[in-house]
Amino acid sequence: MRTRLLRSYPSNFCVDGIPAGKECATPGRSADICLLEISLTELALKKGKTAVIVGAQWGDEGKGKIVDVLSENFSVVARYAGGHNAGHTVIINGKKFVLQLVPCGVLRAGCRSVIGNGVVLDPIAFLKEAGALRENGVKIDGNLFVSNRAHVILPYHRMIELAAENAPGRVKIGTTSRGIGPAYEDKMGRRGLRVADLLDLQLLKKHIENAVREKNMIAHALFNTEPLDADKMYTEYAQAAEKIAPFVCDTAVLLNQALNQGEAILFEGAQGTMLDIDHGTYPFVTSSSATSGGAVIGTGVAPNAINSVIGISKAYCTRVGEGPFPSEDKGDAGDNLRKRGNEYGAVTGRPRRTGWLDLPLLRYSGMINGTNWLVITKLDVLDELAEIPVCVGYKIDGKATSDVPAQASGYDKIECVYQKRSGWRTSTEGITDYEKLPKAARDYLAFVEKEAGAKVGMISTGPDRDHTILVDEFVSELKTAAKKA
Ligand code: GDP
Ligand code: IMO
Ligand code: MG
Repeated sequence: MRTRLLRSYPSNFCVDGIPAGKECATPGRSADICLLEISLTELALKKGKTAVIVGAQWGDEGKGKIVDVLSENFSVVARYAGGHNAGHTVIINGKKFVLQLVPCGVLRAGCRSVIGNGVVLDPIAFLKEAGALRENGVKIDGNLFVSNRAHVILPYHRMIELAAENAPGRVKIGTTSRGIGPAYEDKMGRRGLRVADLLDLQLLKKHIENAVREKNMIAHALFNTEPLDADKMYTEYAQAAEKIAPFVCDTAVLLNQALNQGEAILFEGAQGTMLDIDHGTYPFVTSSSATSGGAVIGTGVAPNAINSVIGISKAYCTRVGEGPFPSEDKGDAGDNLRKRGNEYGAVTGRPRRTGWLDLPLLRYSGMINGTNWLVITKLDVLDELAEIPVCVGYKIDGKATSDVPAQASGYDKIECVYQKRSGWRTSTEGITDYEKLPKAARDYLAFVEKEAGAKVGMISTGPDRDHTILVDEFVSELKTAAKKA
């Protein structure tokens, strides 16, 4: 925006024609400063609004469904982190879509979708997903954009991950085996391949030759893995590059231009706060910034352009893979949650570990993300319970603490303090009106809101788009903030 203005006027002149270095309309200001101020004022006036959807727990909170519902109010939905380790389920009038790389906004007519630079993109997985969407009549061509700066997952990333996960002496993370971690390692090690480089076939060939040689040696030496064939890989990925090319652009420019034109953007998080590489239960985390700050780094939109953070939490808690889970219930009640909530991973089919809502973690997640609004999903899963345990605090060595440990081993010492809340023992499935919820369910939500320190703006009472309660204040804030241009 500033560049455009500077180009439209002689560079040493203020917009009202006062030469640079002389005073402009604001006493004591040089014309250069005046020009900058005018461009910033205009920028502020034109700016569209944004909101970030972030998982408040360990992923699978129902982000996909919520993005789908809210996308009605936004012109663009942009994914900012992770890769096809994510599985976002959306059900529209009974028809189910599971999206892994493509943002859920793609299912909403008139909404553009962006895969940001913070995502790691497996070209083969992307083309498969895009192809399936096209076959289902979803408009993706001219509607879906991939960042030229996103990093590419290649087969050797999967090879290294599989070998490392099963190597003796290694801490098993229980990853999704999609090559996510090694791809981010190469990104940070400054030896990765970006989407722009994928399209540069000469560079691609050289990159694959060098990388495959190096990775084959490492994998063989460390894990005795069979080598990969560089020529075969190049042929396959060169073909994929050709098919991906029409989707690729500088998505940071696209997003900032959309904002400057007053369009509203919804940022779609993947994974969850406790899987964040910095703030999660390290090392049992994923390899990207899943928290709200990731929306900035992962898309190229500035921090001061983020207007609202919406944290998504189940009415209870789940996690897939290894690692700490203080409020886990390994007994019959946990099994029952899994059954009622159909808690099986959308990507790997693994049974999800289940447990109770953990308020200390929800408060921690609120602090890290700056959560303005909470969305509570899967309330209906609790319908049959007479009493609902909620973890309201932690004790370590018998002493109450509000600290969330930095070390995974620190979690082993945590003892959850539970409070039993009254259940409602009646169906809430599909309820769309807050007042129609049983009183005990409303009390449960009010309790969570008070203890978590963020207002509940939305409640999900079933998997379908329509199984949703929207709180008036949330809707009116969203509608004024996120009006389409
Ligand atoms: P995401 O990764 O955060 O998008 O969540 P997933 O899609 O992996 O997992 C959430 C699962 O719960 C999906 O199968 C959804 O269809 C389902 N779901 C979402 N909201 C609700 C709800 O309110 N009630 C029930 N019963 N299921 C829900
Ligand atoms: P969505 O977006 C739940 C978990 C894996 C594993 C750890 C690291 O659907 O909420 P990775 O393959 O990322 O290196 O695995 O993170 N994990 C998820 N768990 N939902 C997800 O995504 C996840 N993405 C990764 O199970 O424990
Ligand atoms: Mg999921």
